[in-house]
Amino acid sequence: MNDIKTRLTRDHQELDAILRRLAEDATAPECDAPLQSTWCQFEARLLCHMEAEENYLLPLIEASHAGEVERLRLEHVRIRQLVSELGVAIELHAARQPAIDALVKLLHDHAQREDVIVYEIAGQRASAVLQNRITSTLRAGLQRALQATIGAAIGAPRRASEHRVRT
Ligand SMILES: [Fe+2]
Ligand SMILES: [Fe+2]
Repeated sequence: MNDIKTRLTRDHQELDAILRRLAEDATAPECDAPLQSTWCQFEARLLCHMEAEENYLLPLIEASHAGEVERLRLEHVRIRQLVSELGVAIELHAARQPAIDALVKLLHDHAQREDVIVYEIAGQRASAVLQNRITSTLRAGLQRALQATIGAAIGAPRRASEHRVRT
């Protein structure tokens, strides 16, 4: 397994873990504040993950795997749309479990294809410079997630007991 494949596959696993925590937070009736915090972490990490793929990885296989790259870019558009809608719903305390489940499924299917097809080939083609840029973008996601978590924690008392996920 090349370094890029290792890093991005691990990022998928961490995003999946955050999303599972989000699903748990969404169904916890006694405390709503963690939902906002977990969502902020997830959104920051996911957006940087997709930015790294679009800017540095997909161009490496665009010529040889045009159809697959087009499909992945379209899925990114759909993922961003779902993330935007769910983010608004969480902010309005109106998140619904089916919307979370839909995002989980889309991301899971998307990640499986990337793990098998894209990361193997593009990872081998990535220069040291590109590998550093990918790593830096993923680190930026971690940093933004930390800042977002702190921000959500500061705002938590105001929002506590207001979030409710409707099933
Ligand atoms: Fe992706
Ligand atoms: Fe990915």
